[in-house]
Amino acid sequence: MTGKQNNDKTKSLVLSSKELYNKGLNELKSLINEKEIEPRLDIIFIGNNKESEVYVNHKVIAGKKIGIDVIIHRFDEDAKQKEVVDSIKEINQMNENHGIIVQLPVPKTLNQFELINLIDPKKDVDGISSTNLGLLVQDKPYHYPCTPKGVVDLLKHYNVALEGANVCVINRSIIVGKPLLHMLLNENASVTLCHSKTKNLKEITNKSDIVVCAIGKPKFFNRSYFNKDTIVIDVGINRIDNEICGDVDFDDVMNHVKGITPVPGGIGKLTVLNLLKNTVSACMMLN
Ligand SMILES: NC(=O)c1ccc[n+]([C@@H]2O[C@H](COP(=O)([O-])OP(=O)(O)OC[C@H]3O[C@@H](n4cnc5c(N)ncnc54)[C@H](OP(=O)(O)O)[C@@H]3O)[C@@H](O)[C@H]2O)c1
Repeated sequence: MTGKQNNDKTKSLVLSSKELYNKGLNELKSLINEKEIEPRLDIIFIGNNKESEVYVNHKVIAGKKIGIDVIIHRFDEDAKQKEVVDSIKEINQMNENHGIIVQLPVPKTLNQFELINLIDPKKDVDGISSTNLGLLVQDKPYHYPCTPKGVVDLLKHYNVALEGANVCVINRSIIVGKPLLHMLLNENASVTLCHSKTKNLKEITNKSDIVVCAIGKPKFFNRSYFNKDTIVIDVGINRIDNEICGDVDFDDVMNHVKGITPVPGGIGKLTVLNLLKNTVSACMMLN
């Protein structure tokens, strides 16, 4: 089936995250009220990336809705590594906050791994410090990374069988592909991790039960990448003019696969939800 158009028509299930997101937010709000806690998330925001500005705004708004204070620590685009390192060390020591994240990407002049690894693993609510990623391999991190957790949560919500499933993940970054590989293995899936140097990508995706697309290229994947039984998870968030779209050409693929996530309305919302969940859990851990 590789290389040719999949013209099999079927009715695709749209795997929206709306219900899971709203339920999750309501549960968190009740938990915060019931435990009478005041969770706080501190965001280290370096530079002036416009997309990051939008994402941070979503985190502030969602946090506000349920009683999580979100504080932003801003640094100039030309901030020096030492300046940010010193601040993170200070923020780490504060008793007022429970979660700390470095908003990615950081300017290329900085060493992002050094910054992330400074965060106390209990406060590392993105779950991507070397300690949490190491613990993830043993399936016991303080916090699971937010986007991969969103992928697994959504698949479970729609009762997509993971045990024994062949899953193709197209991404090897530390926020998506690498942690997702381990989380899927922990669910007894068989995982093929692909990237820009992978040969015969279409052959691999066509043989997979589930394909997770996260390459950051708008509408890159058309129906020829999938078969009629594929579940397609689109993690990509891209902007064309003022429109947000995923890595998958939704209109082309819709009704030619078993299920597909919409963008927006898919994994993005769950990433924010899981960040807030981790912040509440950090608050309970540290109190
Ligand atoms: N929904 C959410 O909440 C959420 C969260 C995080 C990220 N995202 C989105 O997910 C996408 C990826 O984010 P990221 O930070 O992980 O980006 P990234 O670090 O740039 O990683 C992109 C990955 O895609 C691979 N890739 C690029 N072009 C490819 C191609 N033509 N064929 C196969 N693989 C290819 C790259 O391979 P190499 O490693 O070989 O370069 C890399 O592994 C972006 O659109 C981002 O906005 C969404």
